[in-house]
Amino acid sequence: MALKKSLVCVMGVLVAAIVAAPIAEAQLGGIIGGVLSNILRIQGTIFCTLNGRIGVNGTSTPVFPNALVQLQCANGNVVSSATTNSSGIFSILLDPLTVLLTSLLQGCRLVVGTPLSSCNSALPSTGGLFSPLQLIGNTLLGLLNIINIAPAGFLFSPNLNV
Ligand SMILES: *[C@@H]1O[C@H](CO)[C@@H](O)[C@H](O)[C@H]1NC(C)=O
Ligand SMILES: *[C@@H]1O[C@H](CO)[C@@H](O)[C@H](O)[C@H]1NC(C)=O
Repeated sequence: MALKKSLVCVMGVLVAAIVAAPIAEAQLGGIIGGVLSNILRIQGTIFCTLNGRIGVNGTSTPVFPNALVQLQCANGNVVSSATTNSSGIFSILLDPLTVLLTSLLQGCRLVVGTPLSSCNSALPSTGGLFSPLQLIGNTLLGLLNIINIAPAGFLFSPNLNV
């Protein structure tokens, strides 16, 4: 009786394994078949100049490190933010399911919350840099489709509401 019971038990495990197998294979097939996921990446370099752009001295233009960069959308609502690294580069990643590309390009802008005087005391200590956004293109990284967005061009405003 005990033997019969454990046999039934083993059979039950076997059936469960067989039933489970196609699901695992289907999942694997889905990944191999290419379930592409999209991600929005806003990336750019900020220079330590009055307009935040590269200067007449080209690549020797000093960059703006440790600058707080905010992504502001409708009514100045801060959607995301990042800080520039020692190369003056910031990167903001967004899920396109939560932030639509069209509304991002039309209704949002980048605002640098850190005053320019923090990278060069000769530059203004009030006001700051802002830039609209532009679509650059796509980069495929395995199954990740990166939608690249960059600042369209920074400008200085003496009265930025940050
Ligand atoms: C460009 O470089 C020269 C020589 O180093 C310097 O004197 C000048 O101030 C620089 N100009 C700017 C806008 O940084
Ligand atoms: C700054 O960030 C960029 C983009 O993530 C990266 O490529 C670069 O290496 C970083 N620079 C430093 C000095 O960490």
